[in-house]
Amino acid sequence: MAFNNNFIDDLKSRIDIVDVIGRELPLKKAGSSYKCLCPFHSEKTPSFNVNQEHQYFHCFGCGEKGDVIRFVERYFNLDFMDAVQKLCEEYNIPMPEKIGGSKTDYSKYYEINRKAAMFFFKQLTSGPNPGYSYIRKRGLTDQTIVKFGLGYAPDRWDALLQNLKGQGVSESDMLKLGLISKGKRGYYDKFRNRVIFPIIDVRRKVIGFGGRAIGDFKPKYLNSSESDIFLKKNNLYALNITKKDIADQDRVLMVEGYMDVISLYQHGIRNVTASLGTALTENQGRLIRRYTNNVVLSYDSDAAGVNAALRGIGIIRKAGCSVRVLQIDDGKDPDEFVRKNGKDAFEKLIEKAVPATDFRLKNLEQGFDFSTDTQIIDYIQRCVPILQGLSPVEQNLYVRKLAEKFNISEYAIQSEIRAGTESAENAAPIRRYRTAGREERKDQGTEIRMELSFLILCIENKGYLRRIEEDGVPFRTGIGRKVFAILKPMSEETTVGTMGLDEEQVFRALDPEEERLLREAMNEIRIGPDDEKFYLECRTAYQLNRYREKKVELQNSLKVVEGMDDDPGKELEMERIAGQLMELEQKIQKLREK
Ligand code: GTP
Ligand code: MN
Repeated sequence: MAFNNNFIDDLKSRIDIVDVIGRELPLKKAGSSYKCLCPFHSEKTPSFNVNQEHQYFHCFGCGEKGDVIRFVERYFNLDFMDAVQKLCEEYNIPMPEKIGGSKTDYSKYYEINRKAAMFFFKQLTSGPNPGYSYIRKRGLTDQTIVKFGLGYAPDRWDALLQNLKGQGVSESDMLKLGLISKGKRGYYDKFRNRVIFPIIDVRRKVIGFGGRAIGDFKPKYLNSSESDIFLKKNNLYALNITKKDIADQDRVLMVEGYMDVISLYQHGIRNVTASLGTALTENQGRLIRRYTNNVVLSYDSDAAGVNAALRGIGIIRKAGCSVRVLQIDDGKDPDEFVRKNGKDAFEKLIEKAVPATDFRLKNLEQGFDFSTDTQIIDYIQRCVPILQGLSPVEQNLYVRKLAEKFNISEYAIQSEIRAGTESAENAAPIRRYRTAGREERKDQGTEIRMELSFLILCIENKGYLRRIEEDGVPFRTGIGRKVFAILKPMSEETTVGTMGLDEEQVFRALDPEEERLLREAMNEIRIGPDDEKFYLECRTAYQLNRYREKKVELQNSLKVVEGMDDDPGKELEMERIAGQLMELEQKIQKLREK
């Protein structure tokens, strides 16, 4: 579905790029244009220019450029459609009929949630109330309240209900969003006498709420029920606020609770997030990987926390990030620790966080008595699966550590690992495939990988499906064509508050070997925070590959013509092919320089 150009032109003519960018960045007038530090790369002197006359931005440092829609896409990490929608909403410009389809339906729900958040916020901030006293008692400042949009749900059965009704919101919509519940005597507010934590996604939509009891009431936390727009497994708390710090520091601290996030943030540790009261999911792993590759887990030190950390390690490694585990000794959670000991002490803990493998091996030690040889052997054997999952370098390191620790030979441990790996390899078709039939297979492998890179990007950000079609990238491998065919209809189905697609649905439609290929590619391919950059890299790599194929083709034809009997046309034909080869060479050169 595309907008017609009249609409886009009209939209652009009604919006001033200086206004749009000026809301986000400190633009300074410099001659005929405006300048500031570029938000798309790090720099010390401003090379980011906004030209009002041509309604165009251009960074001379990193080359990023485009119109106002392009800016919104890049800055807020949106696809084209969402960028247009965002601008329309902000500037009160009606979208043409039909466009957005199911998406427009969701915007109604986001709007209701936004109204609810405003209501809670006003309740908290416009006069004394138990919520405010509680928040202050827990050390949060007014500034923090505003930053996180905290709120208070009054101790009444219908405070929110009446307020939203007064704003024309229907009960069935409130019910759908889990803001109210239905009892014998009708509807009533779900959140009562609770501190409210609005949950906002990276596109700044209010997707749900968490509510904490004031005092010791049960349940301590209550979350909005899952709905079309609130899928816990796809979102992380406060990422709308902290994603930039996470990307800038190239590290994220994952904690368990909302309060931990907020408290750390207030104390100056801002690269932090939490899952939404559930165990970490693969989607959350992939979401975080958009911003960084380095994850530090800081979970409670009780049994539940340790288990959560162990599970989390697996999930995050699978997403392709490296994990370390931070431990707080005195049974406190991050919030309590940072309040008592301050930012510097907490940062020391971050520096001291142990690599996931140390954490896992240490954890395995429980229950073993290393004074007997059999126990040592048992323990080492339990370690083998962990060691097998490591890169060769890591593996080497940990084998040496274990060998030293128990005074046994590295060789013995290595043999244990190999014994396991060989049987695993036999069970893994992809590994066989990879080592078989070298040359030809290798090319096929590159091709598959290249196509999967595009497709993985589409799973993360379905906007790129359209780009790929527009740019005419054909899929030639079996798996590439198949995945594309699966994704296409999925992207046209309802949106669920994220721009990503459900990878599980894709896996289900693939056969085991294809699934394995895709999963492996997902683990290995890192998109990074900048979708567009990744896309362009893929496209360049793809182009280069095509050019190289073409080159081989031309070289072959040249040989054939050369070998022909002398013929009046021969000379000419050779020249023609040589000319094409040169042109091609220039194209390749140009692409390489990009
Ligand atoms: P405070 O006691 O306010 O400091 O909270 P905490 O973050 O220290 O709480 P805890 O470590 O007990 O819980 C961590 C996270 O788990 C919370 O932020 C919630 O998201 C979730 N959680 C905790 N208790 C409950 C509960 O009773 N119900 C639900 N649904 N979630 C909970
Ligand atoms: Mn706590």
